[in-house]
Amino acid sequence: MAGTQQPEVNIGLVGHVDHGKTTLVQALSGSWTDQHSEEMKRGISIRLGYADATFRHCDGLEEPECYTVEEECPDGSPSEPLRTVSFVDAPGHETLMATMLSGASLMDGAVLVVSASESVPQPQTEEHLMALDIIGIDNIVIAQNKVDLVDPETARDNYEQIQEFVEGTVAEDAPVVPVSAGQEVNLDLLIQAIEEEIPTPDRDPDDDPRMHVARSFDINKPGTTHENLSGGVLGGSLIHGELEEGDALEIKPGREVEEGGQSEYVSIETTIRSLQAGGESVDSATPGGLLGVGTGLDPSFTKGDALAGQLAGPPGSLPPTWQGFTMEVDLLDRVVGAESGETVDEISTGEPLMMTVGTATTVGAVTSAREGECEVNLKRPVAAEPGAKIAINRRIGARWRLIGLGTLVE
Ligand code: GTP
Repeated sequence: MAGTQQPEVNIGLVGHVDHGKTTLVQALSGSWTDQHSEEMKRGISIRLGYADATFRHCDGLEEPECYTVEEECPDGSPSEPLRTVSFVDAPGHETLMATMLSGASLMDGAVLVVSASESVPQPQTEEHLMALDIIGIDNIVIAQNKVDLVDPETARDNYEQIQEFVEGTVAEDAPVVPVSAGQEVNLDLLIQAIEEEIPTPDRDPDDDPRMHVARSFDINKPGTTHENLSGGVLGGSLIHGELEEGDALEIKPGREVEEGGQSEYVSIETTIRSLQAGGESVDSATPGGLLGVGTGLDPSFTKGDALAGQLAGPPGSLPPTWQGFTMEVDLLDRVVGAESGETVDEISTGEPLMMTVGTATTVGAVTSAREGECEVNLKRPVAAEPGAKIAINRRIGARWRLIGLGTLVE
């Protein structure tokens, strides 16, 4: 692939099912996540789809026409790469909300895709916007997609509905860009909006590296002999700092060990044996995009996403592991995404909650509930900084629904 550079920013693609997220990413990247055939990359892409796109500029053209993803400008001259972005494709299907929430912790900004051919909001349009609000992602661009399917008047009405809907939310000031992902219309305008609204975050290169592990797996084919075994692989994103081949790595909470009938989690230490970023082998990796980290771990430790949701970084640099914690709770007024929009009742002692902390999703029982605060005991512990944001979900009917935001106290 020509002009590849490591992606420097993660942009979430969110929105209701079938509104065109995948089609839009395809139009912008000219490819989709399975463009790289390596087993490692493929394995990581399944749960949180990632695709990289390099935005480019044609000198001598006015805005927005100067923005493109093509390597050649209309006059035949080569375009200049601006930056490579990584799209995190959040599944729109309602049962995958937990995946959307764990993906959201990796997003530096988001494109909310809204179909012009349906009334606004559809349930997951609302739910995903609320999730962005809760996780605190405020660099947002709204793509009003499928404008090729409607007449100009319907497009205008729908545009107004979108603006009304985002009033008072985190997307209030987000530009709404009418596009057709299918017909590749107005993509230049969308790229311009993303360049302006979703800047690459300022990062301190001296910060300790910290990786959010979104997936983990064993890449060995069944029957591989012991001496040919590859170590366990971690997939995820660096939040800050830089990782290099040969670095020592600690992974927390680690793995469960049983001792005298008691089970507890102990952190794991290993060494980085290989690194993949933007689908290629690299010696060092910086934040942005999907990272594959080959380690010296016994692959049985990483098999089947066993380490998904954990943190990795230099030994001694990671935050504490919590088997339970107190959180300050800020409940939503009503349940979003539900057809009937029922109100959210206070959290009560004994009830089960599903919580997303970083890329970790864990179920816990409320051991004590007071107004604005509750204590929970977790089935699986999480590693997190005090002050971490927690998306709180309650079981309503057949599924978990987002009901509020927690802040980890202690
Ligand atoms: P999930 O990942 O399942 O949430 O869906 P999605 O949002 O990724 O939607 P996807 O890109 O799969 O598109 C859904 C359908 O809409 C497909 O049949 C697309 O071909 C079609 N579609 C997407 N964008 C456009 C568009 O701009 N115009 C038209 N006419 N159809 C489109």
